Amino acid sequence: MPKITVPEHGKFEVEKGKKLVLALEDNGINILHRCGGKAKCTTCRVEVENGDFGELTDIEKEAFSRKGLQEGFRLSCQVRVEGDATVLPIMTEDNSDLDAGPRPAE
Ligand code: FES
Repeated sequence: MPKITVPEHGKFEVEKGKKLVLALEDNGINILHRCGGKAKCTTCRVEVENGDFGELTDIEKEAFSRKGLQEGFRLSCQVRVEGDATVLPIMTEDNSDLDAGPRPAE
């Protein structure tokens, strides 16, 4: 099974094909996903330090450009785990005063 590493949190195995946002949440990281996985809020974004989640999708490009965000991020609600990776969640319940939001669909 692929392994996801989150700096200062640890490493965990993830079922191949699982949505990254759910893999993070199910392994104890209270990452925000305020729009429920609809690629609207960008609060689920992660910085990818290592690993390959494929080409940036059009829906991600659109979301990042709408929010004025620069490259280097992925929306964890839009990508699936296919191999080992190291990712850094940007917004969590721990580093914000926000509730995570509705759980994205599988
Ligand atoms: S963009 Fe809102 S949860 Fe991913």
